[in-house]
Amino acid sequence: MTIDDTGLQSPDAATRRASGQVHRTGYDEATLAGLTADAAQVVARYPQQRSALLPLLHLVQSVDGYVSPRGIAFCAQTLGLTTAEVSAVATFYSQYKRHPNGDFTVGVCINTLCAVMGGDAIWEELVEHLGIGHDETTPDGAVTLERIECNAACDYAPVVMVNWEFFDDQTPQSATALVDRLRTGGTVRPTRGADEVVPFRAMSRVLAGFPDGRADEGPAAGEATLRGLRLARERGWTAPAFGDEGATAGQGEGSQQQDRHQDRHQDQHQDQHQDRGGADGEAAARAGGQLPTGAPRNDAERPVTTPADASPATQERAEHVEATTRVDESGTQGGTGTGAGAAGEDR
Ligand code: FES
Repeated sequence: MTIDDTGLQSPDAATRRASGQVHRTGYDEATLAGLTADAAQVVARYPQQRSALLPLLHLVQSVDGYVSPRGIAFCAQTLGLTTAEVSAVATFYSQYKRHPNGDFTVGVCINTLCAVMGGDAIWEELVEHLGIGHDETTPDGAVTLERIECNAACDYAPVVMVNWEFFDDQTPQSATALVDRLRTGGTVRPTRGADEVVPFRAMSRVLAGFPDGRADEGPAAGEATLRGLRLARERGWTAPAFGDEGATAGQGEGSQQQDRHQDRHQDQHQDQHQDRGGADGEAAARAGGQLPTGAPRNDAERPVTTPADASPATQERAEHVEATTRVDESGTQGGTGTGAGAAGEDR
């Protein structure tokens, strides 16, 4: 140790802490050995070891129940990072807890759709019932309550998550019964996913990359999610093709129909463009699907270009737009008001 010009002590070069090298982790020998072996497996999955930080933070949570100071030191030591670098990542993501977490993280979605469908009411009920607020834990250590943002389960709003398992279509009453069951140790089954919710530490180990063999349990998607797929199959809708696929995608008769429809559509718009003598350049460009880059347009103006456009609903809409356009051009009916009629008279 040396004394610098300011009179403060500073470490000698030989004892200065190198990045990630001399952090004391504070784990007992057996725990440290287990963590080290698990971390080696995780790190081996990445071309750069620092990329393993996120799963290692989950691994720490699987042991300590949160991202503890000793866990941060362990990650830094394992990955050759500073504890500041590890902390910076751990504090960025809400899945990493900075103080001891309950056995079950109960997250109430209060994002827009869930909120208006009852999420706000569920939140208020649980706050009242449990006597805790956001990121707080019940005295028995069973439940940590959180407000959460959209979990991409809006079709089942309002949604509650328990350790990131889905509980769909909740009400204040069902959510209250849910947390009571969690606190009394009863088996709790999510609406979708695994057959049973596992405690926070067990879930954290899965998130660290150590599967518990339950990934294929339970339904992965419910009726609300699958409804669109079912309708698409019933009606013969297909996804748009990409690039050259469009020319070769085997759509059989549907594809030929689409081609014929597209040709007819383009011919009609070409005729309209010629009739107008180019006077209304932008409108003609819209009709031909050749808008200048960045110009606004809506779905009804988009030309038929993909198999999905050949759906009955899209064809019906396109035909409606064409019919409206013909009526507008005759000047007998102003589909968009008197302005459109006046434009027809001008032509
Ligand atoms: S708004 Fe709640 S899951 Fe999307």
